[in-house]
Amino acid sequence: MDLLVVGSGFFGLTIAERAAAAGRKVTVIDRRHHIGGNAYSENEPTTGIEVHRYGAHLFHTSNEKVWEYVNRFTTFTSYVHRVYTNHSGVVYPLPVNLGTINQFFQAAYSPDQARALIREQAGEFDVRTAQNFEEKGIALVGRPLFEAFFRDYTAKQWQTDPHKLSGDIVSRLPVRYTYDNRYFNDTHEGLPTDGYTAWLERMADHPNIDVKLSVDFFDASQPLNRKALVGQLPIVYTGPVDRYFDYAEGALGWRTLDFEEEVLDVGDFQGTSVMNYPDADVPYTRIHEFKHFHPERAEVYPDDKTVVMREFSRFAERSDEPYYPVNTEDDRAGLLAYRELAKGEKDVFFGGRLGTYKYLDMHMAIGSALTMWQNELNG
Ligand code: FDA
Repeated sequence: MDLLVVGSGFFGLTIAERAAAAGRKVTVIDRRHHIGGNAYSENEPTTGIEVHRYGAHLFHTSNEKVWEYVNRFTTFTSYVHRVYTNHSGVVYPLPVNLGTINQFFQAAYSPDQARALIREQAGEFDVRTAQNFEEKGIALVGRPLFEAFFRDYTAKQWQTDPHKLSGDIVSRLPVRYTYDNRYFNDTHEGLPTDGYTAWLERMADHPNIDVKLSVDFFDASQPLNRKALVGQLPIVYTGPVDRYFDYAEGALGWRTLDFEEEVLDVGDFQGTSVMNYPDADVPYTRIHEFKHFHPERAEVYPDDKTVVMREFSRFAERSDEPYYPVNTEDDRAGLLAYRELAKGEKDVFFGGRLGTYKYLDMHMAIGSALTMWQNELNG
C-alpha cells in the first residue's frame, strides 16, 4: 500500500482514483457500510425509486476541469433543478423572483417597479447597522418577503429565534427581478444517468484501489488505524478534523438533518422534486419526492407509488451525522487551532468537507481533491 485514504466520499475517491491512475496502490477505508459518503444513493426496495440517503444531491458546476473529470465516470441527464415553497397554503416559485413577488403582492410589477417596491420595504433597517439576522434580512428584502419566505424557515433550520441569530449567516438573500427560477446558475447541471452509486463505484473500480467498508480509522482493534499508520505512509484523511485530534481544541459545531421517508400509494404527491415549507407551524423544512429527479425513468418507475422524504433540521450531537458547519466565532477559533495541529501531522493530508470544516458542494470537493493531488501528493 502506497497511500491510505480515510473516507470514500467524493474527495477521498477522487484522490484514490488519481493516485491509482498514476500507479500507486491505494487503500480506501470508510466506517460506513457503503461507498460514496453523503452522495450515496440507493433504490427504495419496494418501488425501485432512487433515494439520496443523506439528502437531495444535485450536481452542478461551472468548473470545466471538474466537468471533464466527472464525465469520465458518468453521463448526466438534462435535469434542471427548480424549487417551490408552500407558504400559508399557497405555492410560490423560488428563489424569490418576479413571479414570486407578483404572486405574493397580487400584482403585475415590471422588474423596475418590483425593485423600487422592495427597496422601499427594505428601508426599515440599514444593512450596515443591522443587529441580527432578522434586521439584516429585512434590510435586504423588506419585511413582507422576509417574514413569508426567510424568517421562520431559517429559524427552523437553526432552531433559533431570528433575533438571536447573527447577521453573519447571511450576506445576501436571493431575489431575482426576472421570472427565471432555475435554482443553479452554473454552466453544467444534471443528475448521473444511472445514479450516484454507479458513478461512485466506477471511480473506485481500478485494480490499484482496495476499498474496505465498515472500518473506522480510530478503531485500534483493526490494523488500518491511526496509531499504527500515521508516519508510516501518506494518509489522506476526510473525516472530522476535531475527531482526529480527539477534540483537544473542543468540538466544532454542526447542524444535522433527520429524514422521515414514506412510500405513498399515489402516483405523484407534489408534482415536483422539492417543496419547501417556510412556515413555523410545519415542523419540517422541505419534502423531497425522488421520482421527479428522474422524469426520464417514467417507464421504469411505478405510476401508482411514490417515495417522499420530510427533512427536519437541528444542531448535531456528537453521535449525529455532521452536515452543515455552524461556524460561530468559537468554531472559527477552534478550526484555526486544529489547522496548526494538522501542520504537525507528518504526511497526513486533511481534505473534504469534514476534514476542512467547510460546506463543499460536490464539484468543490472534487475540484479541491484534484488540486491536492496535483500540488501536494503527486510528487
Ligand atoms: P463525505 O462526507 O461525503 O465523505 C466523508 C467520508 O468519510 C464518509 O463516508 C464518512 O463515513 C467517512 N469517515 C469519516 N470518519 C471516518 C473514520 N473515522 N474512519 C473511516 N471513515 C470515516 N452538494 C452538491 O453539489 N449538490 C447538492 O445538492 C448537495 N446536497 C447536499 C445536501 C446535504 C443535506 C448535504 C449535507 C450535503 C449536500 N451536498 C451537495 C454536499 C456533498 O454532500 C459534499 O460535497 C460531499 O459529500 C463532499 O464529499 P467529502 O468526500 O468531502 O465528504
